[in-house]
Amino acid sequence: MIILDHGVALLAVVTWFAAAVTMALRRTGTAFVLLVAALLVTAGRVASVAFLAGRGWWFVQEKVLLGVPMLVAASAAAALLARPRPRAPSSGRGVVALFTAAYAAVAGFVLTFLVGYPLTLGGGLIAVALVAGAGLLTARVLSRPVEEQPGPAVLAEVSRRRFLGVAGGVAGGVVVAGAAGTGAGLSAWTGAEAGDLGGGRAHTSRSAVPVTDLTGPATPAPGGMRRTHTLVARKATVRLEAGPSVDAWTFGGTLPGPPITATQGDLIEVELANHDIDEGVTLHWHGYDVPCANDGAAGVTQEVVARGGRFVYRFRADQAGTYWYHTHHASHLGVRRGLYGTLVVKPRQEARPAGLDLTLPVHTFDGAVVLSGGAEHLAPAGSLVRLRLINTDSDPHRFALAGTPFTVAAVDGRDLHQPGQVSRKTLRLAAGGRHDLEFVMPGTPVSLSLDGGATLWVRPAAGATAATEDVSGWPELDLLTYGTATREPLRTAPAGRHFTLVLDRGLAMVDGAPAYAQTVNGRGHPSIPHQLVAEGDVVRFTVVNRSLETHPWHLHGHPVLVLSVDGRPSTGSPLWVDTFDVRPGEVWEVAFRAANPGVWMNHCHNLPHAHQGMMLQLRYDGVTTPFDGTHTAGTGHGH
Ligand code: C2O
Ligand code: CU
Repeated sequence: MIILDHGVALLAVVTWFAAAVTMALRRTGTAFVLLVAALLVTAGRVASVAFLAGRGWWFVQEKVLLGVPMLVAASAAAALLARPRPRAPSSGRGVVALFTAAYAAVAGFVLTFLVGYPLTLGGGLIAVALVAGAGLLTARVLSRPVEEQPGPAVLAEVSRRRFLGVAGGVAGGVVVAGAAGTGAGLSAWTGAEAGDLGGGRAHTSRSAVPVTDLTGPATPAPGGMRRTHTLVARKATVRLEAGPSVDAWTFGGTLPGPPITATQGDLIEVELANHDIDEGVTLHWHGYDVPCANDGAAGVTQEVVARGGRFVYRFRADQAGTYWYHTHHASHLGVRRGLYGTLVVKPRQEARPAGLDLTLPVHTFDGAVVLSGGAEHLAPAGSLVRLRLINTDSDPHRFALAGTPFTVAAVDGRDLHQPGQVSRKTLRLAAGGRHDLEFVMPGTPVSLSLDGGATLWVRPAAGATAATEDVSGWPELDLLTYGTATREPLRTAPAGRHFTLVLDRGLAMVDGAPAYAQTVNGRGHPSIPHQLVAEGDVVRFTVVNRSLETHPWHLHGHPVLVLSVDGRPSTGSPLWVDTFDVRPGEVWEVAFRAANPGVWMNHCHNLPHAHQGMMLQLRYDGVTTPFDGTHTAGTGHGH
């Protein structure tokens, strides 16, 4: 629908310009046909915007408040002034009005692309003023008395002058629209200092706790053990399991980095050393609700670990499940090039441990999609198999398991409640997301396919073969209805704070420079107001995607409970996720309890998007950061 509306808007631009140009060239007959076409397209635009409005005000605000009224007004004027009249076939005023309608169409189109939601008063005024200005300019250019001199002798001359006039008008229109968008976009410039209370109480705490004090226990829980690792970040040429060698940035010279495993209650202690990554590194424990001092957000919870530097992370493995770690500095480069690894925590007591338990991170290196963990495995028939799928890329991946029914035992590390048997369904993993699949090994081979091609086989015996199944037509498993519901108080708890995040592209400042940014509510990092919460708050996010790209939204330090998608409530197992894919046009409602004090990054996990501005912070009352606080990817700057 968003694309259709863009298409109609563009068609309006084309038809109004065509009507104006043909009228200026005195192809009156054609011009009237085009005028009718332009009016029809304009009516179509009203309809498409009205339809889109049904999906939510965020999708249409700037169109309803400005783009469409301006277009309709200019179109009405053009229809009146340029309509066929028996004795005066065309008039200069009619041509100017047609051009003005075209400028209005351009301005509305550009406003949507450059400014979007929310429309600012300044941006709106500039757009209107410039459309009017361009109309006047056109009138001036066309005001030479050429239309009163018909006749073959002057036709060529007339056409050229007309053409120049038209060209001037077009150029004016482009300048108009460009300047309007720029003006409004540049106004989205400051604001992070102010903060957004989400409708909740203002902050009250007097004493400030620095984020560096927010550490957890330094010993394992009774019965647990200490798991120590040293991860050395360094460049290395690594030969992939299947395929070529890549020049990578690694933890410890391998891709992925060393797997970190623990049993619930253990203490994980990882020393990070940066050998030769000039950009600097940190470690972020994706989806793991560590005490904030260990979160690895450079410039916010710690200083970036520069070449030669070290940093120790220490946290108790309280949550069982499948997670991963990655650098959180210049991560759009570092993670892509290999600075990541897996983190798997097993429960202290397992009802039935899996006989074969595979951790399978997928990552794209130089365009090659690689599923680490081995392509061939054996599991005796009747044994339990667990596959831990991890998407470490910035785009979603699709998995399908063929040859056996299975359950999705966990999503993003958290067990689902009474997950049912699934077969012939694909699983879509958001960037950063995890799914744990479980099945009882049948007497025939089982294959896991990734993005349509079989990449992993589990066989009951060596040499057992089966044909590769075509999974391309399999529908996607709907996690909103999967599993069974439990009483989950957060589903109905009134939210003390409610934040709306409208995701789009537009002109905005990113790290101090204007950019065609990935924006949240029209702004880019670090100018997006911090979300301010207090410990104990029930917080709700409404996340709206107005853009044409998917945005995997990720909040640090907290899983969020999915309430609904596009108004369709979650009725299956409570779905706790740390990353959720907001596809174009979707509206997600999620909630969480603010129970892990800190200053937390809240961003799109398409890491290039985050780098292009789609990143903000959720800050708890009374928690401060002694660092720069802006989590920039490049050179530091104060605030
Ligand atoms: Cu997996 Cu902020 O990151
Ligand atoms: Cu994104």
